[in-house]
Amino acid sequence: MSTGHNGGIPDEVIEAVLQHNDIVDTVGKYVHLTKQGKYMKGLCPFHSEKTPSFTVTPDRQIFYCYGCGAGGNAIKFRMEIDGLSFPEAVKLMAEESHIPFQDGKGGGVAPRDQELERLLQAHEWTAKLFHYLLKNTEHGKPAMEYLRARGFGDKLIDQFQIGYAPDRWDTLVQFFEKRSFDLKEMEKGGLLSSKQDGSGYVDRFRGRVMFPIMNRSGRIIAFAGRILGEGQPKYLNSPESRLFNKSRTLYNLNLAKSAIRKQGQLVLMEGFGDVIASWDAGVQHSVATMGTALTENHASLMRTLTEEVVICYDGDNAGQAAALKSIPILEEAGMRVKIALLQNGLDPDEYIKTYGAERFASQVIDGAVSTTKFRLIYVKRNYNLLEEDGKASYAQEALKVIAQLSSPTEREVYLRELSTEVGVSLESLKQDCNLMRQTLNRTRPQGQNGNRSSGNGNSRKAQGTPTLLPAYHAAERRLIAMMLQDAEAATYVSEHLGDAFNIADHAAIASYIYAYYAQGKPPDVSRFISSLQDDRLEKTATSILMMDTPHGDSTQVLQDCIQQIKKFPQQKQVEQKREEMLRVEKSGDFLRAAQIASEIIALERQ
Ligand code: GTP
Ligand code: MN
Repeated sequence: MSTGHNGGIPDEVIEAVLQHNDIVDTVGKYVHLTKQGKYMKGLCPFHSEKTPSFTVTPDRQIFYCYGCGAGGNAIKFRMEIDGLSFPEAVKLMAEESHIPFQDGKGGGVAPRDQELERLLQAHEWTAKLFHYLLKNTEHGKPAMEYLRARGFGDKLIDQFQIGYAPDRWDTLVQFFEKRSFDLKEMEKGGLLSSKQDGSGYVDRFRGRVMFPIMNRSGRIIAFAGRILGEGQPKYLNSPESRLFNKSRTLYNLNLAKSAIRKQGQLVLMEGFGDVIASWDAGVQHSVATMGTALTENHASLMRTLTEEVVICYDGDNAGQAAALKSIPILEEAGMRVKIALLQNGLDPDEYIKTYGAERFASQVIDGAVSTTKFRLIYVKRNYNLLEEDGKASYAQEALKVIAQLSSPTEREVYLRELSTEVGVSLESLKQDCNLMRQTLNRTRPQGQNGNRSSGNGNSRKAQGTPTLLPAYHAAERRLIAMMLQDAEAATYVSEHLGDAFNIADHAAIASYIYAYYAQGKPPDVSRFISSLQDDRLEKTATSILMMDTPHGDSTQVLQDCIQQIKKFPQQKQVEQKREEMLRVEKSGDFLRAAQIASEIIALERQ
């Protein structure tokens, strides 16, 4: 079997998977598609929209969204919609279509990282052992009582694979020894600690309720152990390891991901307990960070699943301050942000216990407010609105928040509210606000647009085909489109242009195309896309494939395009020379200026 650069998966398997999984059928399971000429259209499952900009092209076996730029073949679609890696998606699709595909030893898959695999194995066994000890042994009784008192039923304990690490030094040590696991390796993986005198190993987790932490595809990569009742530390987490990176891990993402897709929304919490309580209350699209501050990595991980996030942190000061810090990180990643408000300093878990699931879902989550509203509420805590002084100072602070909004309509909405709150006329507030905006604009560094829009914080640019491209750019896209559909065109371009594309991604795609045809394969864009294995290149290639390819004399078109592309670096050089000439003239060096002028003429003759 031949293997390409697809993570060791044989090309034959990928091809068979694509052959068995028609793009219309694959997408049709998730998106309602209607036929429209050569295309099928529907609402994009990857971003929220009211009018369909998501297309499927059966001829080419690809999907592409003009709104958000998502695109690719059937495998790519499953990766995105189910949150799978490339090998995971291929494996799953192969299984579904009964295509023989051996995993691991002797099969087509390259030997995986052995140590990583052993660590994953050890985590899985450990979780099973702890879960068993909790449910079936004397050791587990106190932990079970603790969990019961907190309202954990059997179903929840099973779903989250909760367990108990007995209060002994060698539960795991013995378990691993019996099964010939390397104890040093287990220490590196965070399950054991080495004794202070270096004479061996002891269990890291003792006398704690154990919450396994899964990665996106549901494999256990770490544990969080909670003490029964009071004590320090309340939680003991696995240390960072080859498996576990806190700043890239979100608790419960594996279980929540399908609900997140369905709801078009993700709920972000602070604690494990909160997420589990929320799940139990029927709000199943919530996840939590691992007791660390939110990172850009977390945000982009979320963004692959949805565009909208509801921050549902604890209602106390610390929680609200943390929420304020998380807003820009999420907005930077292109998400719309809302904030859930929990009264009386409650955390979600406590709120649900106090007021019930129904009220949590309908009031807290569905009633989440815009970031502007939240900022205003946050500012307001500091002032006593019953006093004139308090009102005036609050109005000043509130205006600072409102003045940052770029939409006049939004500003007006909040100014109206403020006007009633502080008893100042809308007109005066507007004037103050405008003055403040002028100062803001002056002090803001050039090119940095600090304007906020609270309702729709989605700053992600649409990645659809730009309407007006420079000639050389359009020519490069056209060439690639033609090459993808015609092996002869590719040969022609390779001989007459090679890799001299001006845009690096285009040059990269071209070299993949040359390599693809060199293997004697027929044009097949869906197969070709699988050979790219790079998200950005895939998107670019797919967006190019959405263009209509011209009919008529194709050699003429190829020649014209190639000429456009070759001309561009020279044009750029001429421009640079012109600028240089002006500079030199200004500085009085006329001799040098004349020299440059003749260089320009020579270039233009070419
Ligand atoms: P419960 O008291 O069991 O309901 O926990 P909680 O999830 O409500 O915890 P809390 O709100 O106090 O803290 C939120 C999150 O911070 C937790 O879920 C943990 O991830 C983390 N955290 C809290 N205490 C500790 C600790 O002592 N050590 C570590 N490493 N993390 C902690
Ligand atoms: Mn709690």
